[in-house]
Amino acid sequence: MPRLIIISNRLPVTIDKKKGELFYYPSAGGLATGLNSLDTKLERLWIGWPGQEINDLKEQEKVTNDLREEGLIPVFLSQKEIELYYEGFSNETIWPHFHYFTQYTTYNEEYWKAYQAVNAKFAALVNANIQAEDFVWVHDYQLMLLPAMIRKEFPNISIGYFLHIPFPSYEIFRILPWREEILEGLLGADQIGFHTFDYMRHFLSAVYRIGGYEHNFGKLTINNRIVNVDVFPMGIDYDKYAYPERIAGKDLVLHQVKKLRSKKRKLIISIDRLDYSKGIPQRIKSFERFIVEHPEYQGKVTLILIVVPSRTHVDQYQELKDEVDTLVGRIDGQYRTFGWSPIQYFYRSFPFGELGALYKAADIAMITPLRDGMNLVAKEFIASKEESKKGVLILSEMAGAANELTEAIIVNPQDSNDMVSAIHRAIEMPESEQATRLQKMQDRLKIYTVKHWASTFMQEQMDLKAFKDQKKTNLLSDTQKEVLLKDYKAAEKRLILLDYDGTLMGFQNDPKKVVPDQELLDILEKFKNTEGNKVVIISGRDKHTLDKWLGHLKLDMAAEHGVWIKRRNEWKTPDVTNTWKKDVRHVLQSLVDRTPGSFIEEKDYSIAWHYRMIDKGLGEKRVREFRDVLLYLTANLDLQVLEGNKVVEVKNAGINKGKATSYWLMKDNYDFMMAIGDDSTDEDTFKALPENAYTIKVGLDQTAARFNILGVENVRKLLTSIVES
Ligand code: UDP
Ligand code: G6P
Repeated sequence: MPRLIIISNRLPVTIDKKKGELFYYPSAGGLATGLNSLDTKLERLWIGWPGQEINDLKEQEKVTNDLREEGLIPVFLSQKEIELYYEGFSNETIWPHFHYFTQYTTYNEEYWKAYQAVNAKFAALVNANIQAEDFVWVHDYQLMLLPAMIRKEFPNISIGYFLHIPFPSYEIFRILPWREEILEGLLGADQIGFHTFDYMRHFLSAVYRIGGYEHNFGKLTINNRIVNVDVFPMGIDYDKYAYPERIAGKDLVLHQVKKLRSKKRKLIISIDRLDYSKGIPQRIKSFERFIVEHPEYQGKVTLILIVVPSRTHVDQYQELKDEVDTLVGRIDGQYRTFGWSPIQYFYRSFPFGELGALYKAADIAMITPLRDGMNLVAKEFIASKEESKKGVLILSEMAGAANELTEAIIVNPQDSNDMVSAIHRAIEMPESEQATRLQKMQDRLKIYTVKHWASTFMQEQMDLKAFKDQKKTNLLSDTQKEVLLKDYKAAEKRLILLDYDGTLMGFQNDPKKVVPDQELLDILEKFKNTEGNKVVIISGRDKHTLDKWLGHLKLDMAAEHGVWIKRRNEWKTPDVTNTWKKDVRHVLQSLVDRTPGSFIEEKDYSIAWHYRMIDKGLGEKRVREFRDVLLYLTANLDLQVLEGNKVVEVKNAGINKGKATSYWLMKDNYDFMMAIGDDSTDEDTFKALPENAYTIKVGLDQTAARFNILGVENVRKLLTSIVES
């Protein structure tokens, strides 16, 4: 029975050591609280750091035993590792950088080494605990190298990865000196998840620009392995926050709510870890401006500012603590009266019951981070209003949650005018409007819960595994190869159709450089010289190039996807015209003029525009422009536009490799037929052949062929074993 192995830097429990005694507490932060409320049918094992330095071996053993009962496996980190890997690379390099605080990014080789070493330490523990059929799910920015490390030891295991923070735009990501290694680490996973489409798009753009890999609707093919990249916005345990009293007890929650509401003031809550990404000073300053510009609300509104201590050894966090302390002190001193203080400031975390009561009691929640991967507090606040249907959320557009909580008052946290007017609007919002907005958001949050998040992620990962297992069965196996060889030998008349680019030869930026090597020429020659063989090169290339490179072999050929047919050493063409080429060339030339690096390839009866050397996005944009113009231009002409691998080609309609295939089929009867090809134009060849033909697709894409084969190298191997059989 497969198990689910969760791996995150932090376990859902944190150990505290007081006077030599160990205490276990729930961990803070969205990842731990969110994942902890996940239930799954699979047996679950969770590997992570218990948040405390424990060096004594006896103590480590005790912790390991205590946690084992909960299905938790601790990774013990030394003080040095905590400093360099956790506080260092994770929280002084990646965290600021990925949250667009590049001014805080620390570039330190020692941090990087420690990050690699601790990821390897996690990998060793994972390797010791997993079985080949398990599902592995790695979490967050502290463990970005781990997927590839696990993959190395377990090449076929199913690995998921989820990033809980933003993935920055390529322009920011590219600055990191370790960008390649980070991407390589992540791409060890089978599935990579993000909270929002923007993060996903930034990631794919970085993968393309740095690694050169293109995606197809979020699917990447890396060394013949599919990696699925998708969006899975994390939700919350809705009922837990809608009805906190069910967990914490009615008396406690209701008593707290009553106490909080006793003064009949408007309560604004603000709850975050003390983190510069949360925009706490900006929020406090906007609140100050609000009470200055709207003095009528002085004495009538209070900001309950809850700041949870976090990463206290990192300099920027300490500086922020000083800044917040000073700000709150100044504002409170300046505006407080004997009966009112504008800000009630708490620097500590709250147990669940009190937090639930606070959400319920508050009129307004101000969640205005400068950047935030998701932000669960915003969602928890909305759920807490399930019964009352009263409450307003002011939410930063920079939080991932803003994509889903669109009925909140959305603000730009750096725009203080916007923030002040949002507070005013929130205070004045009629209850009916509050209810309508809440209802819409609640309806959504009830569906997209944390359970839904985890199960859709897992389901997609499992489906992907099933798809890959299925694909593996399509790959030409050794046994099938044996049968193919037997059939080949037994046959008297054989038709062998071979595509050229991407099948017999790999791609290069300059198509003119794809000259056949000696190994290929030898293979083709042997094929040709075997009695009973009819070998046809069936290509999109022009006939002059094919003749120059392969003419001496005296093979049959189809050039320009079948416009030209060469049989008995003579080229023939069907009765088609090419007078249209002049106009199309004119349009293509204007594309080349505007797109340096692209070029035109002109053949006898077709004309192609290549954009292999330019940005894929720009190339596709140009193709779209071109299609429109072409449609207009060729309204009355019988032309077709073929889109290949970074090339778009215009030719007469009704000509394709399938037609060319039929031509040879009509000329003779064969008792062995084989076709190998890699791109969409080869599908016509496969379809034109009878069912018992050996049709073989290079790559894993969907195909009409009977078999798949991976890469040019394997095609060569197959052909060699056939000619040598
Ligand atoms: N939280 C908590 N105790 C507190 C304050 C917050 O347990 O005193 C929880 C809160 O309920 C939420 C999480 O901490 O689930 C914060 O997650 P969020 O995504 O908002 O921010 P993160 O800390 O992950 O950046
Ligand atoms: C964010 C991160 C988590 C992290 C949490 C608390 O939610 O995405 O990975 O666990 O903050 O931070 P800490 O450094 O205390 O683990």
